[in-house]
Amino acid sequence: MTDPRLSELARLLPDLKLSTDPGDLEHHGRDWTRRWTPAPLAVAFPADIAQVQAIVRWAAQTGVAIVPSGGRTGLSGGAVAAHGELVLSLDRMNKVLDFNPVDRTLTVQPGIALEAVQQAARDRGLIYPVDFAARGSCQIGGNIATNAGGIRVIRYGNTRQWVAGLKVVTGTGELLDLNKGLVKNASGYDLRHLVIGSEGTLGIVVEATLWLTAPPPDTQVMLLAIPAMDALMKVFAEANHRLRLEAFEFFTDRALAHVTAHGAQKPFAEDHPFYVVTEFDAAGEADALDFFERCVEEGWVVDGVIASSDAQAAALWRLREGITESLARYKPYKNDVSVRISVVPAFMEEMQRLLSAEYPHFDVVWFGHIGDGNLHINVLKPDDLANDTFVSQCEHVTSLLVETLHRHEGSISAEHGIGLVKKPWLGSVRSDAEITLMRGIKAAWDPRNIMNPGKLL
Ligand code: MLT
Ligand code: ZN
Repeated sequence: MTDPRLSELARLLPDLKLSTDPGDLEHHGRDWTRRWTPAPLAVAFPADIAQVQAIVRWAAQTGVAIVPSGGRTGLSGGAVAAHGELVLSLDRMNKVLDFNPVDRTLTVQPGIALEAVQQAARDRGLIYPVDFAARGSCQIGGNIATNAGGIRVIRYGNTRQWVAGLKVVTGTGELLDLNKGLVKNASGYDLRHLVIGSEGTLGIVVEATLWLTAPPPDTQVMLLAIPAMDALMKVFAEANHRLRLEAFEFFTDRALAHVTAHGAQKPFAEDHPFYVVTEFDAAGEADALDFFERCVEEGWVVDGVIASSDAQAAALWRLREGITESLARYKPYKNDVSVRISVVPAFMEEMQRLLSAEYPHFDVVWFGHIGDGNLHINVLKPDDLANDTFVSQCEHVTSLLVETLHRHEGSISAEHGIGLVKKPWLGSVRSDAEITLMRGIKAAWDPRNIMNPGKLL
């Protein structure tokens, strides 16, 4: 360790795994945005809470900023370390600590993958219902820090709803034990909920107690082909009325073209402008048929398939869940926005009109959690466009989005967070008074401004 600050850390914590290996710096200094060049000072891999506290105290003393690091599957630059920060990786703190069958809670360390939490719940006859495509790589600490959403929010809500208790190390190195698994706790400000979605700017989640729930009855998965945008939300309203929905996701013909070019099976002989993947309780099978017939009669749906096996259900889901991976090689410019569900058609129509008028050369791929009013808008760089021009045109796309969202009272980030990517636009969705309060909260939790500085605020 040539840096004297690191030598001091190594002296304070001789057992701490600390790396300045260029491969580790590169790997742990970036997230899935891949927009910034990683340049951390070092990566620390604490093994327990005491080591996390000691690292934070060292950072507060030396002024070295900390970037808490989970699976780094985020898409807003929240886990990027590009300015000599210490990356604090939770990779080694990845165990299940406790299960309480009466409370139906699972207590875990923050570095455990979402998929491992889901499996641990299933092994105990229950489920942890938050779910999304990055389940195998993302970590629960990051899910909590970003209040992760995903494909089953429509039924189960965001991560926030499932956090029964949190242990958090603040920017002063203090350990807080928040809510302790209580269902009811009317004892003042719920600090747990401040930490959820704070993007590592207030403290580091070092332990979480999660609520689990009973598995749903068997579900069915259906794929629908939809001929026009205005039919999308009619199909949603009908499905929501007749079926007990687990998920209601959409994607466009452009998204399907990318995902099939990436190896997925084309679902229908003909192409259609929009597709919906929906999952619902199988108990309503007759209702599902009624729902489908009504949609066809009304002209809202022109084709459909219902999965007849788990493998077919997985193949239908792959069409939706494979989109991000199929676009990755283009390094798309991503927007993740939300409006009230009822406002989705007006918002989409307005945005598509603006985009095709101003940027007809862009491949714009829409998909997402339309049943939550959450739309992902990915813009791909045309081969013949210079990167700088592409980035500045995309920023203009974002400002068009911001104006349109403002008119429709939506949000510039639905589930991906603000991080670095959306920071310039925070003021478009939060008032000056709100941002002043947020800064005050940050200063109270992290007076030395060492916790993921520059992100979010
Ligand atoms: C998704 O819904 O697939 C994720 O939010 C990832 C993405 O937007 O690319
Ligand atoms: Zn999403």
